[in-house]
Amino acid sequence: MNEKALTGKAAIVTGGSRGIGRAIVRRLTAEGADVVFGYRADAVAAKAVAAETGAHAVRADLGEPDEVERLFAEADARLGRLDILVNNAGIIADAPIGEVTAELYDRVLAVNARGPFLALQQAARRMADGGRIVNISTMTTAWPSGGESVYAASKAALEQFGRVASRELGARGITVNTVSPGPTDTDLLRGGTTEEARQGVVYLTPLGRLGRPEDVADVVAFLAGPDARWLTGQNLRADGGLV
Ligand SMILES: NC(=O)c1ccc[n+]([C@@H]2O[C@H](COP(=O)([O-])OP(=O)(O)OC[C@H]3O[C@@H](n4cnc5c(N)ncnc54)[C@H](OP(=O)(O)O)[C@@H]3O)[C@@H](O)[C@H]2O)c1
Repeated sequence: MNEKALTGKAAIVTGGSRGIGRAIVRRLTAEGADVVFGYRADAVAAKAVAAETGAHAVRADLGEPDEVERLFAEADARLGRLDILVNNAGIIADAPIGEVTAELYDRVLAVNARGPFLALQQAARRMADGGRIVNISTMTTAWPSGGESVYAASKAALEQFGRVASRELGARGITVNTVSPGPTDTDLLRGGTTEEARQGVVYLTPLGRLGRPEDVADVVAFLAGPDARWLTGQNLRADGGLV
């Protein structure tokens, strides 16, 4: 990608305070974009990313519809336009089907599917022609493990929202694509796996290591930039060849 490919572009990244989202905020701001990012709870981490990148942090729980709307309103007040949306924030759920509670099911679907859907809806209304939407899914939709029923279903919904949105928004030159990471070294991964399990993933991965947040952020930056103008409705697997 050319230097400063995103100068003059206004972007919203959800879950930008840690992990993959933080790497995306770093990369988009380095490319010249003006970025507003959301987070749920960790204000210390969010402040650090804002100070480092010049991006603006907004505390908003994606599981609460009013807060999704407020995130977009605050971003609009600050940026005055919207060119790029990265639906990155998500939570994991690891429970066998027999033990999934209604509360767990509702929360995971609310954060991973309804929240990004409402963000997509805001983008459909507000985004400038020629915009870019990137949804972060997971390899789990293609290769689920036991315990991942609700998580896999929530991300499968997100993938379908993206495919339909690509058809609805194409006439305005807006592209909508999905990036599906494999296991990527973040708090989310370390919180849900053992060292042994992570080593097993490394063994199975053709490129021979865990993903790094930057591996995913670089693919997102490509899809958000001018060189990806002819790609829409696609799902790029940023997983070192695992799936
Ligand atoms: N890491 C992996 O191996 C992997 C693999 C495939 C796909 N993914 C996907 O990649 C995305 C990022 O994952 P990650 O590993 O970077 O996760 P992470 O390290 O846990 O970071 C999650 C980010 O999302 C924010 N967030 C969480 N719940 C939120 C909510 N209800 N409302 C608003 N923001 C919320 C967090 O903010 P707070 O800190 O303030 O809560 C944080 O900024 C997720 O969608 C995940 O499903 C990850």
